[in-house]
Formats: sequence, C-alpha cells, structure tokens
Amino acid sequence: MNRIFLVAMFVLAFSSTAQAQMAGNAIAGRSKVAACGACHGASGNEMVIPGTAKLGGQNQNYLYKQLQDIKNGTRAVLLMTGQLNALSDQDLADIAAHYASLEEPTGAAEESALDLGQTLYRAGNANIGVAACSACHSPTGAGNNGAGYPALRGQDPAYTESQLRAFRDGTRNNDLAGVMQDNVARLNDAEIQALASYVSGLRAE
Ligand code: HEC
Ligand code: HEC
Repeated sequence: MNRIFLVAMFVLAFSSTAQAQMAGNAIAGRSKVAACGACHGASGNEMVIPGTAKLGGQNQNYLYKQLQDIKNGTRAVLLMTGQLNALSDQDLADIAAHYASLEEPTGAAEESALDLGQTLYRAGNANIGVAACSACHSPTGAGNNGAGYPALRGQDPAYTESQLRAFRDGTRNNDLAGVMQDNVARLNDAEIQALASYVSGLRAE
C-alpha cells in the first residue's frame, strides 16, 4: 500500500466518525480567558506576543484537543506551562467554544509563494509521498471541525512555518497516528515556507 492511499484511508476513517466531544459554552468561556489575552489578545488574533497562534474562529474540536494536549504536556508550549492546570475539562470546552465563536483572521500570501504553495497545498507531491493538504484542511483552509482538522486560513505565516518544522523534526508530535509528521517529513525549508505563506492568504468563502 502506498503512502497516499494510507492517507486517503485516514481521511475517510476520521471524517466519518466525528470525535466525541464535550459541549462547550462560548458565553461561559468568555469569562475564563482573561489571562490568555495577555499573549493572544482579546480577539484571539492580535498576536501580542510574537509566535503566538491566532485562535479566533479556529475549529472548536481542534482547540479543545490542543488545550487538553498542552495541559497534559503531550504538546509542549513553554510559555503556557502551568496556565491550564487549574482548568477543568468543562472550562477547556467553554474556552474552545469561545475562541471558535470569534471572527476568523485574515492574511495575505506573498506573490513569490503562490505557485509552489498552491501546487503543494492542492495536489501534494506523490514523488515524495506528500498528500494534498486540501484533502484534510479543505480547499479554503477552513479545516474540518468534525474530524479535528484545524483551519489554516489567515494564520500567521511564522507560526505555521514553526509548526510544520516542529512536525518535521518531531518536537511537535501530538498529531494522531503521526499524520502531520509523516506528511511533512520530506518537505524542504523552501516548500514549508511557501506553504505557510500560501495558507495565510486563504479565506473561507
Ligand atoms: C505567555 C503567553 C501565553 C499565554 C498567557 C497563553 N498562551 Fe496560548 N500560546 C502561546 C504561544 C507562544 C503559542 C504557540 C505555541 C507553539 O509555538 O507551539 C500558544 C498556543 C496556543 C494554542 C494552540 C493554537 C493552535 O493553533 O494550535 C491554544 C489553543 C492556546 N495557546 C490557548 C491559550 C489559552 C486558552 C490561554 C489562556 C488560558 C493561553 N493560550 C495563554 C502563548 C501564550
Ligand atoms: C490526513 C489529513 C491531513 C493532511 C493530508 C494534512 N494535515 Fe495538517 N493536520 C492534520 C491534523 C489532524 C492536524 C492536527 C494535529 C493535532 O491534533 O495536533 C493538523 C495540523 C496541522 C497544522 C497545525 C495547525 C496549528 O494551528 O497549529 C498545520 C500548520 C498543518 N496541519 C498544515 C498542513 C499542510 C501544509 C499539509 C500539506 C503538506 C497538511 N497539513 C496535510 C491533518 C492533515
């Protein structure tokens, strides 16, 4: 079985079984994010601290999983060490619902990244076993909430680039079945940079 086929199987398996998820309350969540704003900003997208991910309009299921992973150390985020310890599962679900309800970010791709970024994003590269990103993250970069695939559109390119590198070198390894680590393993720096720039310019229609 080749790699692309395995990825296709993964997409089908995860897309058809929406992850069991605790229901979050966005209004309750609003009162639980005071400390987060110092770095993420009130809209979730200000990037008060450089390197901070934009959270506004991100998919709720993805946010909830990241909060769980960051809290229990499966995903190491140095600046957030200890910050989630006092929060219950219900708190994390409410916070995820809150950020998901905010406006999504917008960005712009660099002209020079368009060709390479778009080709890899939409078609992948079968020669080096890279599946089309759009298969999971959707053609508009909106991701897939039910399957837990994050939205990428409008994300800060420096953040996206850092995550792709981290998946490639294994310092971020909280992706189920290693699906992201496997997908970016054979991408070079220029390809990662082009992808990060390209997705920042995508918009959900
Ligand atoms: C001191 C700064 C700081 C504070 C305070 C902070 N964060 Fe973060 N957060 C970061 C940084 C930096 C990252 C990016 C981590 C990386 O590069 O992997 C991040 C990443 C995240 C992510 C992952 C986003 C993604 O797209 O995968 C979530 C979710 C998140 N933060 C939520 C929160 C919440 C909720 C709070 C408040 C309870 C909070 N953060 C407080 C700095 C902070
Ligand atoms: C088979 C499905 C699949 C494919 C194909 C795929 N991804 Fe992902 N991607 C995921 C999943 C699932 C996650 C969330 C992992 C986790 O739980 O932390 C993710 C996470 C990410 C993140 C982290 C987002 C954040 O906010 O931190 C980025 C960036 C990303 N993918 C980019 C890409 C790019 C670029 C490609 C194409 C080269 C790609 N993905 C192909 C499923 C996929």
